[in-house]
Amino acid sequence: MTVDEKQAAKRLQQLRDEIRKHDRLYYDEAAPIIGDREYDRLYKELVEVETQFPEQVSHLIPMLSLDNTYSEEEVKNFYARIQRLLPNEKIPVVIEPKVDGVAVSLIYENGKLRQAATRGDGNVGDNITQNIRTIRSVPDHLRGAAPKLLEVRGEVYMDRKGFEKLNDERKKQGLPLFANPRNAAAGSLKQLDPAIVAKRPLGIVLYGTGATEGMDIDLHSEIFPLLKKLGLPTTERWWVAASVEEILDAIHELDAIRHNFAYQTDGAVVKVNTFAQRERLGFTAKSPRWAIAYKYAAERVETRLNDIIIQVGRTGILTPVAVLEPVLVSGSTVGRATLHNEDEIKRKDIRIGDTVVIEKAGEVIPAVVEVVKSQRPRSAKPFDFSEHIQGKCPVCGGPIRRDPQFVAWRCENLQCPAQTTRRVEFFAARGALDIESVGGIVADNVVERGLVREPLDLFELKVEQLAKLNLGTEEAPRVFGEKNATKAINAIERARTLPLSRWLYALAIPDVGKTTAMDLSRFHDTLNDVANSLLLQDVADYEEKKKQANELRRKDPQAYHVLRNDLAEIRDRLIKTGFAKQSKTKHVKGSGIVTEIGPVVSKSVLDFFASATGKRILQRLKDLDIQPKSEKVSLRKAAELPLAGKTFVLTGTLPSMTREEAREKIEALGGHVTGSVSKKTDYVVAGREPGSKFDKAKELGISILNEAEFRKEISA
Ligand code: IVH
Repeated sequence: MTVDEKQAAKRLQQLRDEIRKHDRLYYDEAAPIIGDREYDRLYKELVEVETQFPEQVSHLIPMLSLDNTYSEEEVKNFYARIQRLLPNEKIPVVIEPKVDGVAVSLIYENGKLRQAATRGDGNVGDNITQNIRTIRSVPDHLRGAAPKLLEVRGEVYMDRKGFEKLNDERKKQGLPLFANPRNAAAGSLKQLDPAIVAKRPLGIVLYGTGATEGMDIDLHSEIFPLLKKLGLPTTERWWVAASVEEILDAIHELDAIRHNFAYQTDGAVVKVNTFAQRERLGFTAKSPRWAIAYKYAAERVETRLNDIIIQVGRTGILTPVAVLEPVLVSGSTVGRATLHNEDEIKRKDIRIGDTVVIEKAGEVIPAVVEVVKSQRPRSAKPFDFSEHIQGKCPVCGGPIRRDPQFVAWRCENLQCPAQTTRRVEFFAARGALDIESVGGIVADNVVERGLVREPLDLFELKVEQLAKLNLGTEEAPRVFGEKNATKAINAIERARTLPLSRWLYALAIPDVGKTTAMDLSRFHDTLNDVANSLLLQDVADYEEKKKQANELRRKDPQAYHVLRNDLAEIRDRLIKTGFAKQSKTKHVKGSGIVTEIGPVVSKSVLDFFASATGKRILQRLKDLDIQPKSEKVSLRKAAELPLAGKTFVLTGTLPSMTREEAREKIEALGGHVTGSVSKKTDYVVAGREPGSKFDKAKELGISILNEAEFRKEISA
């Protein structure tokens, strides 16, 4: 957290406490101590600070997800299972649409919208209060008699027309297009400027409650009329069923009408209606036993395959891509579909000119399922992958190799512009560093002009360089312009402060996806901590020693014994830190623990940071002064840290720590370090041969600490 962010967090807390107090005095005690004007001023300030400093919030009750099923058989199994768990009881369930949007939680206190957050990882989400306020169907005040506390949960969506219009505009501005309405809604909610969000056609469907106080309902089905009464938008159709047949009927009925809804749906959710029964059914690790999501089959359509082109991916893999006659599938227009690899084209006997069946399911990239052979024209042309590429990369002409382990060809030129572009795109994509302005066309351009050779080069781009970019063609030029360039540079700058998990993901470390990145950041504070992680080293060592032990067992009992002791030591250490748990499965020979991150991935992470590339990246980040911190650090409320609000000045040489180390310690504990002594300074830490700062501190009567005293202060 920067100093500004820390101050903002502190101020936010003050403002919220203050406003809550006045609400209580006004609503509960009918004894307000400030006028409306003053209240409005506080409120306005809250809105301003919240907008300027987006922050994360913890959910009052975790936001869980549901188990997905894809067959009616599994729905039957679900109902049979709950019948088994609650024998001889009638178990009514509710069937309702599964809305394909962005999960959010809205908190109303005494009928007033207080906070809105995204689901995030289920425990912690982004605070999106100001953006949610711009959605017209979200009331700021509930209608009628509102409960003391009501957390409602649901999905924010963008309707189809609005989505198409938005993408048209983005195309004109050279911005990357959203793949589907869901992504567009998610992207909109993350906007920093609520004025922009207000222009996006967002809606909301609410389908449940979280934390509540002063509300008394026993059935899920009571929620729909209740929400309606309070003025909150909810689903237009839902069914109650009490047998498998009735459940399946409802699922079919929903399927027949769901395309008429304003929002996109990708399934049906089946939920036990009675809260008392829900409670008895409980949860598994990830999801409730009392609900299940049934996903409708992916939509399939036929279209003509006009051409096959070869794309070069981030890691150099050559992928054949079908160029299609554009068609509408599952709410978005599809003009390309992946053909996976050379063998796939052969196996499915796909030819240029064929009519093909394509399939698209939610987030998944559209794929060619099969050829409609009966419609194959005489002129259909087979596609010979190897002949087409002629032994070289179709983009850079560099050498290619067929990886014996994989079916794919790979361009071996690390400087291949296609690879660089993809790497830059990945780095800037949503989920990674989320630099909205740097996608498709812009990435292509900066790489082509040689302005960017690797993703971190983005941080050295200048507004003037970007402003001059021509995103059009020579005949029809379209200059990026000063305004867009400034926006892009601001977005790049913002990425500096993103938490560790996002950076770990963005760096494209082999085997590190979003989940692993989150797991790593829960146990480490900085990238350097990950690079030198003793935990990961222990996990890798454990695996290695386990193997050795198995080999030595018979051959050398003494060495085996030593190894066993080592293993026990490592195991205890890992369990103590919470990074490993005793494995529950019946004693697997020599193993016995399950670690948060497995041995293969642990080794992959350590290898990456030990490699020349990894080292270069760490050095470069240091040079750029980018120091991503784990959420677990930035989440701790700044105000609660022991040195919060304290200002330090360092002078002279400390006997056993560098100034940099001292500064890091102070900042980690919430204090901050400035260069000169003033009345605002709380402490001066003085080492050997202190400078004029020492004298100034004495003059102003500021506490002066030697190293020993300083150490005491920071260990408090
Ligand atoms: S109930 C404890 N109802 O689908 C589970 N979820 O994987 C509470 N969703 O995270 C969720 N429509 O984001 C519920 N009618 C609906 C839903 C719905 C969409 C989303 C939600 C959830 C995910 C389940």
